[in-house]
Parts: sequence; C-alpha cells; structure tokens
Amino acid sequence: MKSLIATTFLGMPLVAWGGITVLTVLVVQILIGMRILKVDFKYHKPVAFTLLGLALVHATAALIYIFG
Ligand code: HEM
Repeated sequence: MKSLIATTFLGMPLVAWGGITVLTVLVVQILIGMRILKVDFKYHKPVAFTLLGLALVHATAALIYIFG
C-alpha cells in the first residue's frame, strides 16, 4: 500500500495529489455555499460528504506515507 501512495506522478507522490484534490473540492464547496459558483444548491450536501470521504482517505494515506 505504501508503495502505491508513494508512487510519483509528474514528480509528486500520489498522496500529495490527493491533498490537492481535497483542497480543490473544498474550494468548490465554499464557492457553491457562497453562491459564487451558480450550480443547483442541492449539490452542496453530496459535495460535503464527498469532501469528508476524500479527506479521510487522504489523511489515512498521509499517515501511512509518514509512519507506515
Ligand atoms: C467546507 C465547506 C462546507 C461544507 C462541508 C458545508 C456543508 C454543508 C452541509 C452538510 C449542509 C446541509 C445541507 C442540507 O441539509 O441540505 C450545508 C448547508 C448550507 N450551507 Fe454549507 N458547507 C460548507 C461551506 C459553506 C459556505 C462557505 C457557505 C456560505 C457562505 C455555506 C452555506 C450554506 C447554506 C446557506 C446552507 C443551507 C442551510 C439551510 O438549510 O438553510 N456553506 N452546508
């Protein structure tokens, strides 16, 4: 598992790409919440749970990357 997490893509480990993905979804979620991104507000809730899932996966991967 650690070797997969540490595999590099464009010179950066996959765990770091995961962090960038989480941050991107977070920014999208805030833009939806602030009504800057004009998509149907019904997406606010599923994006919140997607964010939670991605953040948990990313945090677990980061802990394995450091300590595993
Ligand atoms: C990390 C960022 C955020 C997360 C995870 C998040 C998550 C959520 C969740 C789970 C709900 C409940 C949805 C439902 O029950 O249908 C909600 C509702 C809402 N959020 Fe967010 N939110 C975020 C950011 C924001 C921001 C930045 C704003 C606006 C500045 C915002 C405005 C609202 C509003 C207006 C509601 C509806 C409240 C109501 O039921 O009347 N959210 N949000």
